[in-house]
Amino acid sequence: MTGSVLAITGSTGRLGGRVARRLSQRGTPQRLVVRDPSRAPALGNTEIARTDYGDAAAARRALAGVSTLFMVSGEETRDRVDQHRTFVDAAAAAGVEHVVYTSFYRASPDATFTLARDHYATEQHIRATGLRWTFLRDNLYLDMLPLFAGRDGVLRGPAGDGRVSAVALDDVADAAVAVLESAAGHEGRTYDLTGPEDLSLAEAASILTDVTGRTVTYHAETVEEAYASRAPYAAEDWQVDAWVSTYTAIAAGELAGVSDDVAHLTGHQPLRAEAYLRRTAATATGRGGPAAVPEPPTA
Ligand SMILES: NC(=O)c1ccc[n+]([C@@H]2O[C@H](COP(=O)([O-])OP(=O)(O)OC[C@H]3O[C@@H](n4cnc5c(N)ncnc54)[C@H](OP(=O)(O)O)[C@@H]3O)[C@@H](O)[C@H]2O)c1
Repeated sequence: MTGSVLAITGSTGRLGGRVARRLSQRGTPQRLVVRDPSRAPALGNTEIARTDYGDAAAARRALAGVSTLFMVSGEETRDRVDQHRTFVDAAAAAGVEHVVYTSFYRASPDATFTLARDHYATEQHIRATGLRWTFLRDNLYLDMLPLFAGRDGVLRGPAGDGRVSAVALDDVADAAVAVLESAAGHEGRTYDLTGPEDLSLAEAASILTDVTGRTVTYHAETVEEAYASRAPYAAEDWQVDAWVSTYTAIAAGELAGVSDDVAHLTGHQPLRAEAYLRRTAATATGRGGPAAVPEPPTA
């Protein structure tokens, strides 16, 4: 691959996979930067490079010759920000010109949602390297909503009657592709990628009931109840704090608010929750339905 090389991370996952498929369908050449080449999607006009974000030497090799990098945030680990910093430094050392990073809505150093602080730290590091950047601040993925409900059909968390403008992964992918295809026009820009409506979790439960035919209810836990109900997972403290603060951020109003950035970037309105979940209900049912995962992955 010669000329201006576009590299995509996360293509073995949900968001990066969607972005890679869209770019491939449009005939855009891309380098898929993956941890396990045997799991890279088979797409036309691609080349494959291997690295983990935390492996500086491999990352530098994987990013050699890349001009624009789409960096999907890594899986949640205690040291994720360090891994991100290593990867960003490797990008700068390899001569990458522009990083498009998937951050989180209202990322800030004092965000209620603990992982939004990590995204802010990554943003700050990207800025500090002198790389050109674009930040896509995605809100909670609508696709996660079915996973919020437990096996008993109860969506429980300390979100009070707060609201969230959750966004469909398909809309985030469309927005990312729009940015990647004309990256120069998006330098130094931060986009808030939200859905078109603010939903309370009671409304989300009602939509899930309609869409899946299975009764889903919302129980507004206290913070103490939230820690107690998650204790059986025996997860590390940072992970439980992330789970619980997803909800307290909603209660605090930090995940509410509707942006027109998806529409502005893609030329279409973002999907409403009911339409999107109805469309994806068949897939969710195929995976065992909303009860399959007791606690959602966080951001
Ligand atoms: N906004 C939200 O609601 C929300 C919800 C969940 C997650 N997130 C964040 O958004 C990201 C994308 O979401 P998603 O649904 O596409 O997640 P996903 O399906 O789990 O995909 C994550 C992708 O990132 C790759 N990856 C993870 N850690 C990595 C590392 N240390 N080095 C290199 N590659 C790594 C994974 O590779 P492998 O296949 O090798 O694991 C996978 O391709 C997540 O990774 C997470 O940071 C946001």
